[in-house]
Amino acid sequence: MQIKDILQLSPESQSVVVKGWVRTKRGQANIVFINLNDGSTIKNIQAVVEDGKIGEETLKKISTGACIAVSGILVASSGSGQAVEVLAQTIEIYGTADETFPMQPKKHSLEFLREKAHLRFRTNTFGAIFRIRHALAFAVHKFYNDNGFFYLHTPIITASDAEGAGEMFRVSSFEPNAAPKNEDGSVDFSQDFFGRETSLTVSGQLEGELGAMALSKIYTFGPTFRAENSNTTRHLAEFWMIEPEVAFYELEDNMNLAESFVKYVIQYALDNCKDDLEFLQTRLLEEEKSKPQNERSEQTLLEKLSFVVENSFERLTYTEAIDILLKSKPAQKKQFQYEVGWGIDLQSEHERYLVEKHFKKPVILTNYPKDIKAFYMKQDADGKTVRAMDVLFPGIGEIIGGSQREDNYEKLMTRINEVGIDPENLWWYLDTRKFGSAPHSGFGLGFERLVLFVTGMGNIRDVIPFPRTPKNAEF
Ligand code: 4AD
Ligand code: MG
Repeated sequence: MQIKDILQLSPESQSVVVKGWVRTKRGQANIVFINLNDGSTIKNIQAVVEDGKIGEETLKKISTGACIAVSGILVASSGSGQAVEVLAQTIEIYGTADETFPMQPKKHSLEFLREKAHLRFRTNTFGAIFRIRHALAFAVHKFYNDNGFFYLHTPIITASDAEGAGEMFRVSSFEPNAAPKNEDGSVDFSQDFFGRETSLTVSGQLEGELGAMALSKIYTFGPTFRAENSNTTRHLAEFWMIEPEVAFYELEDNMNLAESFVKYVIQYALDNCKDDLEFLQTRLLEEEKSKPQNERSEQTLLEKLSFVVENSFERLTYTEAIDILLKSKPAQKKQFQYEVGWGIDLQSEHERYLVEKHFKKPVILTNYPKDIKAFYMKQDADGKTVRAMDVLFPGIGEIIGGSQREDNYEKLMTRINEVGIDPENLWWYLDTRKFGSAPHSGFGLGFERLVLFVTGMGNIRDVIPFPRTPKNAEF
């Protein structure tokens, strides 16, 4: 049985077997307490070894990190901190761990634990994070399934750059130094595995749109890859993205979907991850104590999550946001690092001002200048802006990016040529605008940014099991 289930039982001296990893072992002259965890819950179960019940040799081999199976009877605990405990009758040792096991029961820095990512699952913090990550992933599928969406598996290897940002990882089966060349010295990709240049996808959107033009409501949930050299607490080179795409949705419908989706998954975590969230909340409060008063957050983690679920997101246009920023104190006192003006790509300092200082709640910004957004976004009548929407979150910045899509063939073609994309590569995408084109919209939610927000962690490297970042692909 899993420890999570055993802890729910009423103790009637029934026989139980618990298997897990030793967190701590405390010994006294005639009694030993072993705390076991199997990852099913943040809670440990305590095994009690009474004098002489287990051989000296076996007991000696049990230490923090060892994996054991304890058979015994479940009794009410006389100690505080747990309702039940196991009175050990036999113990089988699966694997010992000596004193070089790095996850000793003391405080470790997150930086240290990142270097031990293969073992950090065995800490309370990372156990909590990855159980919450699972619950959120499950809630994503549940939300879309319950709302009539189909999960579409879009390709990971692709020949097109959906975002047009040129930040792709190449996929090739050539030997780096023996790639066949054309007469002009360039690499002859026609001889490569796929007979053309291919990369890891930055987004499943373009293929997702093809699905939506038949199934009406689809979503993708898969890994995406970006070779941008951003060494920040918000960027990964490999991250997971959820991308719904819906036929007949306009920008407003898209915003409504994004807002109800994010609220649903956060509420799901609140309802299903109480122990883990409370643990992380306490951890955060401890951490905050070392910060100066004015940098401490006004809300606890659970308050912050409930606040997002209970309040409507603020919706305004990019142009209105620029006006607010221009009139803001930091702009007037020249405290922003990047100058504000219509047409700029908002920097995270600007996004955070709007969300954390001005509105103090999540914000949806719409109708961005077309020049700072991708080619596929639907153009507004003014010729200057597009029907884009970004959802900005406190402490995170952009968590969702999306738009209504350009469904007019001529306008899309013009834009593709303007930004210098070869339409030959996108013939299949353009076909949807030729055959039964329809208004449609979609967005992408960065899954790790969501997990970051829900767990209250500060660095995106701590919410994915094995982070991929510049100069880092260990494990
Ligand atoms: O805004 P982005 O680039 O939008 C797209 O890729 C669209 N094709 C989505 C769509 O409309 N279907 O990325 C979407 C989200 C961002 O808002 C952010 O949360 C996340 O993906 N994201 C990253 N997360 C971690 N590391 C990175 N390097 C990220 N880049 C984007
Ligand atoms: Mg974006």
